[in-house]
Amino acid sequence: MSGFGLHDRVALITGGAGGIGVAIARRFAAAGARIALADVNRDAAREAAAQLAKAGHRAIAFSGDVSQSVDVEALVRDVLKNFGQIDILVNNAGLMGRVAPLWELEEKDWRRVIDVDLTSVFLVSRAVIPHMRARRSGCIVSVASIAGKEGTPRLIPYSVAKGGIIAFTKALGKEVVGDGIRVNCVAPGVVETPLLDQLPPDATQVMLSKVPMGRFGTPDEVAAAVHFLASDAASFITAQCLDCSGGRATY
Ligand SMILES: NC(=O)c1ccc[n+]([C@@H]2O[C@H](COP(=O)([O-])OP(=O)(O)OC[C@H]3O[C@@H](n4cnc5c(N)ncnc54)[C@H](O)[C@@H]3O)[C@@H](O)[C@H]2O)c1
Repeated sequence: MSGFGLHDRVALITGGAGGIGVAIARRFAAAGARIALADVNRDAAREAAAQLAKAGHRAIAFSGDVSQSVDVEALVRDVLKNFGQIDILVNNAGLMGRVAPLWELEEKDWRRVIDVDLTSVFLVSRAVIPHMRARRSGCIVSVASIAGKEGTPRLIPYSVAKGGIIAFTKALGKEVVGDGIRVNCVAPGVVETPLLDQLPPDATQVMLSKVPMGRFGTPDEVAAAVHFLASDAASFITAQCLDCSGGRATY
């Protein structure tokens, strides 16, 4: 079985200290990649990198807010200084924001989620893509959400940001298809991570009731989908959104 190895590759994973980010980092490291973990939570990122190093992998933590262009430019510069290359970018950092109907949301609620979940994808991808274009190789995988396809009530900013990631993926995928760069995203359904703590329990129950498999996904299951798209096994796949939702999305 070939195509899934990530030897000689450097992966930059944003939100790398969170539930799904850590699972992706572990999986990529096991496949042979060197890992740059970027997170606004500096201590958690350091702890995650230390765990990977303890298991014999090469991993470095970087702290920064991916919604801020100054932080993003510094992050990409530092990763390139430490590793010399970035082969895989995983845009995974994100938050859900306030759970409330449109008429109760303030402008700052909207801006925060759009900045962290969507503008960050623009900023980090824009910072990395010249390097990938120069090498005529690279791969971007972003973590969208079922919310971006279906629209989740009381989570309008989140749904719009995630829908934006799907459109971003399709457009950028077409822009760089001739440069040897693939751009894809995954759309997880509900996954058991600390992100769910941002939701009231009734909302998680409603979400669970919509999953044909009758259970939440795990971070490892999302990491497996991301790994596939980031690997040579997906060499003929670009500008796509791969669902990881227990059968919830059928389109
Ligand atoms: N958990 C789910 O059910 C689910 C479903 C669909 C999509 N997702 C998406 O998966 C991704 C990972 O989520 P998770 O479930 O692991 O959540 P999580 O809260 O465990 O992890 C998110 C990570 O992103 C980091 N982060 C937040 N804002 C940041 C910023 N401005 N700059 C840098 N890092 C920042 C956090 O510190 C955290 O470590 C998110 O984009 C989320 O929207 C999650």
